[in-house]
Order: sequence, then structure tokens, then C-alpha cells
Amino acid sequence: MSNGLAPEAIIRLGAGEVTMLDQTLLPGEVAQLRVTEWPGVVEAIGRLAVRGAPAIGVAGAMGVALAAQTAAARGEGVEGLRAELARAVPALRAARPTAVNLAWAVDRMAAIADAHEGSPEQIAASLSEAARSLHDDEVERCRAIGAHGAGLLGRAARVLTHCNAGALATGGYGTALGVVRAGHAADPGLRVIVDETRPLLQGARLTAWELEQDAIPYTLIADGMAASMMAQGRVSHVVVGADRIAANGDVVNKIGTYGLAVLAREHGLPFIVAAPTSTVDLSTPTGADVPVEERSADEVRGLWLFGRPAAVDDAPVANPAFDRTPARLVAAVVSERGVHRPPFERSLARAVDEAGTSP
Ligand code: MRU
Repeated sequence: MSNGLAPEAIIRLGAGEVTMLDQTLLPGEVAQLRVTEWPGVVEAIGRLAVRGAPAIGVAGAMGVALAAQTAAARGEGVEGLRAELARAVPALRAARPTAVNLAWAVDRMAAIADAHEGSPEQIAASLSEAARSLHDDEVERCRAIGAHGAGLLGRAARVLTHCNAGALATGGYGTALGVVRAGHAADPGLRVIVDETRPLLQGARLTAWELEQDAIPYTLIADGMAASMMAQGRVSHVVVGADRIAANGDVVNKIGTYGLAVLAREHGLPFIVAAPTSTVDLSTPTGADVPVEERSADEVRGLWLFGRPAAVDDAPVANPAFDRTPARLVAAVVSERGVHRPPFERSLARAVDEAGTSP
């Protein structure tokens, strides 16, 4: 994988700072965003400078560690540190509502802090180590997902993917793009079809950029082209990531995913979801229980064409950032524990248990 996609280039925790690749500037500019106070991490998550379910979990964990580091550096004692964490933890946790990895990671960090009886410096050091190892663990999980998922593709696969579920979205390697990376290493004949992913173009801006870095052949399409690509036999598999998988296997992911699952069913194509067990939320029984983030209308209206705004000024807008795909449309969930087939309940619950990723 190219150096630009190395985990520490995507996000890292230093002494008194979190540094991340600013994903809002890609692909035109490869620039680092340096944040020295935890509210900056909340802001970076909210405006998608860092995005993707596992990556915002990593950012949230690093935000908690940063809060502890700065409180320890101010010398306000253990009570001062705990007061700072009491402000930081709920704010980080709530920075985005849909991807469960964020709440999961922040809660894990809060539990470590609660159980710690050391000095502020010791608590900050433990939290920093925990955040870095959570990052390492997520990348490892992605590599295992890639290895399991590649086995589902066969020769000369034509993989359609949506949004960006790559290294940028996970802090390294990727889930759906992890499957693509491992699949392409095993069979250089694999090709990727990249949905541009309106409204914020994570496919066109980020997935295409990642595939360029790794010289994996791809074709970029507008979202509305997927159906006819399938009808023409130009797609063999749909592989996507997830922001949250409910206990019954319903999948919540980037808006447009549900449509692809319906299309895949119509065309007899396997619809595969690649996600670590940290994305499985056994406490939400079904997709209907998962909150879907509604984002700013400007994201939909803000399209420019021919050098001019392409939407009617003040057009009424709906902008749900995610949709819910029922488990019955999902052929397989690929986690770091292996390939899960329907019915998903027991298999997912066992995987979370064995992985030790329940809250
Ligand atoms: O709004 P985003 O860009 O954070 O949405 C990201 C997605 O929907 C991804 O598909 C999902 O988080 C999986 S990332 C491995």
C-alpha cells in the first residue's frame, strides 16, 4: 500500500496533538490537520475531515486521550482531569450519531479512565496507549476482513463499491476496499466500479484517490449508472462497508447503499458487507433502531456545474446521510472473524463475543 495511506499518515496521536489527513481537501490537496484540543477533534469529525465508521472511532479515542493529556499538562490534579473527561466524552461520543464505532471507542476509553487509580500523567499515558492500540487493532481487523472477503470474489471480479470504505475510512487498509486490495493482490484481473456517492462524493474524491495510489484499476460512475452497469453484466459483486450492523444483520451505511442492495437482488448479484465486529451493535435489534444523521441542506444544494451553482437557491432539501438495508438483501457479512451468512443473529453475536468487541 502507498505511504500516503499508511495508518500513521491517516491519523495519529502525538504528545498534545492529534494529526490527521484532512479528507475534505482530497483529492486536490494532501494536507495534514493538526488539532491540539479535544473540541477540535469533535469539529473534525462533524465536518468530515476524518470520516468513516472505524476512523471516527479511532479519532474519538484519540480525542479522549488528548483531553487527558492536556488536562494533565495543566496540572489540575486527578479531579481536574476527570472534569475535563466529563466534558470531552459526551461531546466526542455525540459528534456523529450513526456509526456505532464512535460511541463504542469513546465508551471503551471512558471505562479505562474510570477504572484507573493513578496520577493524571499515568491516566493520560494509559489512555494514549489505549487509543493507539485501538487504532492498530482496527487496521488488523481490516486486514483479516480483506483476507476472508477476497475468497468470495472468484476470478476477474467486477466489484462495485459505494462511498469510501477504504484506508481513509478505517485508519488503514479498509473494509470494502480491504477486500478489493486483497482480491487484487490475488488476482490482478479484478476491476472496481466506483459509485461517485452523492452528495459528498466520497467515491469520486476518496475511493478513486485511494485506488489511484495503489494502481488498482477502476471505473468511476455516477450513482444512477449502477443499474444499467448491472443489467449489462458489467458488475459481478457489490461490496460495501457499514456504519452500524444491527443484531439481526440489517446494515446501515451511506445513503444509496439500500438501492444497490435492491438492484443486486434484481440482477442476481451477491451483495456483500465488509465490517469489523466493532461496527456490530448487538444492542440495536434492527436497522430501524439506528439513528440516521440528517446533514446540512447545503451539502445537497452545493453542487456546481459549468462554473455555476447547479441547484435552485433555497430548494427544499432532504439529506439523510445513511440508509438501512434489510438483512434479507445481504448475501454475506465479512468480519475479521470470517464470512457470516444468513440468518445472521447467532453468527454475529458469536463473532462479537469471540472478538471481545462488545462494549
Ligand atoms: O459520512 P461518511 O463518509 O462518514 O460515511 C461513511 C460510510 O458510509 C462508510 O461506508 C462506512 O463508514 C464504512 S467505512 C469502513
